[in-house]
Amino acid sequence: MFKKITVVGAGHVGATQALRLAEMQVAKEVVLVDILEGIPQGKALDMFESGPVMGFDTRVVGANGYDEARGSELVVLTAGVPRKPGMSRDDLLATNAGIVRDVSKELKKACPKAIIIVVSNPLDVMSYVTKETTGFPASRVFGMAGVLDTARYRTFIAERVGVSVEDIQALVLGGHGDTMVPLVSYTTISGIPLTQFLSMDEIDGLIERTRKGGAEIVGYLKEGSAYYAPSAAVAQMVEAIALDKKRILPCAAWMEGQYGVSDTYLGVPCKLGVGGVEEIIEVELTDEERAALEQSANHVKGTIAKLKELL
Ligand code: NAI
Ligand code: 2OP
Repeated sequence: MFKKITVVGAGHVGATQALRLAEMQVAKEVVLVDILEGIPQGKALDMFESGPVMGFDTRVVGANGYDEARGSELVVLTAGVPRKPGMSRDDLLATNAGIVRDVSKELKKACPKAIIIVVSNPLDVMSYVTKETTGFPASRVFGMAGVLDTARYRTFIAERVGVSVEDIQALVLGGHGDTMVPLVSYTTISGIPLTQFLSMDEIDGLIERTRKGGAEIVGYLKEGSAYYAPSAAVAQMVEAIALDKKRILPCAAWMEGQYGVSDTYLGVPCKLGVGGVEEIIEVELTDEERAALEQSANHVKGTIAKLKELL
């Protein structure tokens, strides 16, 4: 168990995140930080007061600065604006890069030893901004996307086949966007290949829905984007780290030659433990999957280049 986890951004994702982490009791204290006066304090106190009913002792504290966050072992960075219908995640680039850079400068001072899980979009590029600004090693700065994308894919498969979501194993690689690469060859139901349950046409339909999973929710909500499944995905990553479980989960990790890709963040299977990303696992890919992953990496690299032009 950690002593302190900080969640930056007390909006939809951040607030839900703080509550999930408090209920899971993976830290003694959860600090919620936002620039909006009173909002993190009010939400945190409300969460703290749910402890006696829900049965958790986690202290939940809200703040507008980083004094309370000092010394956190882990930070979840959710500050930034979400997209509106019709917008892509990349449309948030300039605004969120400014916010993430400001937050990262503060985190570097207040929590120099922390592991940072980035959530703000566009996810892969915001992970890059966080790593560049903090100067933290890549093992301590990575993003959440793959667990969410995989959860959506698993949900759609389970619903279609009529089996428990718990029995679906799947792997989604690549950037968090339309170029994500769900791997059919690594998708099984209790170890049985998915292709024994569904035709390729049916699988392609579920993959397309997964690719557009974020936009489907934005389309319903109109203002804002998903937060229940995203915060659940981050919670699974935090648990793997806090309990040093060495789970293998897809994360947006800094690439240093794995899969033939360098100098960018990309969604790949990672071993998560108390050191953060302790290893990037390289799985065998077909030529088609490898080409799709390269295309996805090039898209993220292009967005990083666009950001550098904006600066
Ligand atoms: P939201 O608008 O509900 O909350 C964002 C919060 O950030 C607001 O409360 C705002 O005041 C705060 N904020 C802005 N600037 C700040 C700063 N400098 N310091 C501290 N806080 C600051 O948005 P929501 O729905 O919580 O989404 C947050 C971000 O997460 C968005 O960029 C969204 O696209 C992204 N996201 C990423 C997902 C993923 O899979 N990686 C999934 C869901 C959301
Ligand atoms: C999602 O996929 C908004 O990126 C977020 O829901």
